[in-house]
Amino acid sequence: MDFSQVLTRRQSCRSYDPRREVSKEDVLACIEAAGLAPSACNSQPYYFTVCTGEFGRAVAKACTGMGMNKFALDAPCLIVVREAPYNKTAAVGSKFKNQDYRSIDIGLAVSQLVLEAQNRGLATCILGWFDEKKLKDLLDTDAHIRLVITLGYAKEGDPLRKKSRKEIEKIVEFKE
Ligand SMILES: Cc1cc2nc3c(=O)[nH]c(=O)nc-3n(C[C@H](O)[C@H](O)[C@H](O)COP(=O)(O)O)c2cc1C
Repeated sequence: MDFSQVLTRRQSCRSYDPRREVSKEDVLACIEAAGLAPSACNSQPYYFTVCTGEFGRAVAKACTGMGMNKFALDAPCLIVVREAPYNKTAAVGSKFKNQDYRSIDIGLAVSQLVLEAQNRGLATCILGWFDEKKLKDLLDTDAHIRLVITLGYAKEGDPLRKKSRKEIEKIVEFKE
């Protein structure tokens, strides 16, 4: 798929075909794309847990509180994104410059992950609404969990939506 098509056709999928599994090759390619993203001091302060089957269902349930994200229960694969420590230079840079590089690095990596998924005909939704404690217990980790990504194939007939975005003038200015 051409790059601009990848950008315009990627959309948050909230209707998955529960019978179509994602191949390990596709999952690994998406994780590899995430790992190619730039990160402050090349620190890559993140770790991905690929969840399928019964485990994936438990993860999906942890994302569905208060009626949210019910579609996650149909996603055949969920990727939990947690923080990992900075390397030394990123830790020092972050402290001295008072910048949260880790959030930026995770956002960039996840962006590349979902774009590679789109490139492969897969559908994703980034989830920021989840029960972190439940996920920490499931994954047996104390690390801060930042995102969950649903990954699968959109149900047949799931329409491509028109993008709703701020007008370009509202997000950019040019100064000379
Ligand atoms: C950090 C983050 C958290 C999000 N959390 C959720 C979520 O919990 N549930 C959901 O359905 N969509 C979630 N989204 C998807 C956004 O709603 C979506 O990206 C935005 O509305 C733009 O739509 P599009 O992705 O279809 O272009 C999240 C996106 C981001 C980047």
